[in-house]
Amino acid sequence: MTRYEPHDALESSQPPDSGPTDARSPDEVASPHTESAKTGTMTLEDVQDVYARNAPWIDRLGWLDHLLTGRYRRRQFDSAEGRVLDVACGSGSNFRYLPEAADIVGIDISEPLIEQARAELEALDRDGTVERMDAQALEFDDDSFDTVISSFSTCTFPDQEAALREMGRVCQPDGQILLLEHGRSDNPLLARVQEWRADAHYEQSGCRLTQEPLEVVDRAGLPVAEVETAQFGRITGIVCEPPDGDHRGVDR
Ligand SMILES: C[S@@+](CC[C@H](N)C(=O)[O-])C[C@H]1O[C@@H](n2cnc3c(N)ncnc32)[C@H](O)[C@@H]1O
Repeated sequence: MTRYEPHDALESSQPPDSGPTDARSPDEVASPHTESAKTGTMTLEDVQDVYARNAPWIDRLGWLDHLLTGRYRRRQFDSAEGRVLDVACGSGSNFRYLPEAADIVGIDISEPLIEQARAELEALDRDGTVERMDAQALEFDDDSFDTVISSFSTCTFPDQEAALREMGRVCQPDGQILLLEHGRSDNPLLARVQEWRADAHYEQSGCRLTQEPLEVVDRAGLPVAEVETAQFGRITGIVCEPPDGDHRGVDR
């Protein structure tokens, strides 16, 4: 298993002089169409910068997001129960689709989005908390949630596998991990358009447009129980079981 060194603190998770351009060659920096979407070269700090920049748009276009993705969120998350962790909750777009009885805990790395998520909880009059935390090194005990959910997030995690393994670690053995992801379409024409846009999109939004969500889940070693796709394979709903005892979480 790839060894992942957890960060002691979010602030110390990157070298102090690392920045959006440090990890890239001069050629890559010069061109907006780099190979970065495939390799995922953004650091956690870069991801925070991107979402600090995009937070006002995310807030303003929340209604459109609900229009386009609301039904998928509802369907994927309506079986969430008990203490529910929403990993990389962003502005809290999933909260309104969770059953009323769910006890919501959201985490994200972006301060402006965390503020929006807290406001969403308040607007919905739902109990819950939202904290700033790195999905790749969750500060929760093993088995501390009945359900772990995450939406449209693996595309942005610098270390996708570490984040997914963490979801497995904090989920109770008889709980479930519910993922809603986007990725490469199974329609060849659409996939070509995605390919064409992938690098520029990654630069703008830190999002791997052409990722293959099932391959990412497989690499992280999470057992898959159910898969559903929509929108020409662009959207994938995945139900995972927590891994068994020997395969849980990161090597600490
Ligand atoms: C595309 S947004 C999705 C947000 C939300 N889940 C949704 O469905 O609208 C990706 C989110 O992942 C968060 N993120 C990326 N890397 C993270 C990390 N390592 N730890 C916590 N949050 C992270 C970003 O801040 C952002 O809110």
